[in-house]
Amino acid sequence: MSNSIRIAPSVLSADFSALGRDVAMLEAGGADWLHVDVMDGRFVPNLTFGAKVIESLRRVTALPLDCHLMVVEPERYFDDFATAGASIITIHVEAAPHLHRQLNRIRDLGCMAGVVLNPATPLVAVEDVLEELDLLLIMSVNPGFGGQQFIEHAVERIARARQMLDAAGSRAILEVDGGINRATIAKCWRAGADTFVAGNAIFSAPDPGAEISALRRRCSHAA
Ligand code: DX5
Ligand code: ZN
Repeated sequence: MSNSIRIAPSVLSADFSALGRDVAMLEAGGADWLHVDVMDGRFVPNLTFGAKVIESLRRVTALPLDCHLMVVEPERYFDDFATAGASIITIHVEAAPHLHRQLNRIRDLGCMAGVVLNPATPLVAVEDVLEELDLLLIMSVNPGFGGQQFIEHAVERIARARQMLDAAGSRAILEVDGGINRATIAKCWRAGADTFVAGNAIFSAPDPGAEISALRRRCSHAA
């Protein structure tokens, strides 16, 4: 069962002056993906980084780069991010009025297409694009910052998302992001999530690499 659990450490919590070192540490610790939080200071208050950093990450790791775009007009960045080496491009439904076209464009560029929902956005917002969807990301914090507290209501939303995907015969990955740690991961896994973003929990641990395994174990023990 543990094979289906993906841990995607968020590089937002890494030491940016030693990104290569931190990525090597995550890879050695068994990270399945790297989660890359792109923020534009408009969709969310914070600013992070863009294609240049994705390109640098691509050069130092073969792990899939799971790019979470917290930006307005995300389509402006698809080509650059795909060229830079993004594996998955995930856009916020709240910032994507032309979701069907945007998801198809991401796929045309050779990336997996994901949609992410803020805690207050109804799941029904993605119900009519399930065929275009490779990944559904449920936020368990309001996006913009690492290290926030897990919103419990996300567990119930994951369970409903799981039902929605299964009922439609969708094989989309179901990911959760925000406040994931040893105390919160297992209930998300039981509710039907298979992919877990974690920033603060991993980088604040005494041994970040070992924390990846510890998080994974929480899920297998909850089986
Ligand atoms: C929040 C980001 C998250 C964040 C998760 O806006 O989307 O990916 O890095 O960090 P933690 O695990 O610290 O909540
Ligand atoms: Zn994220």
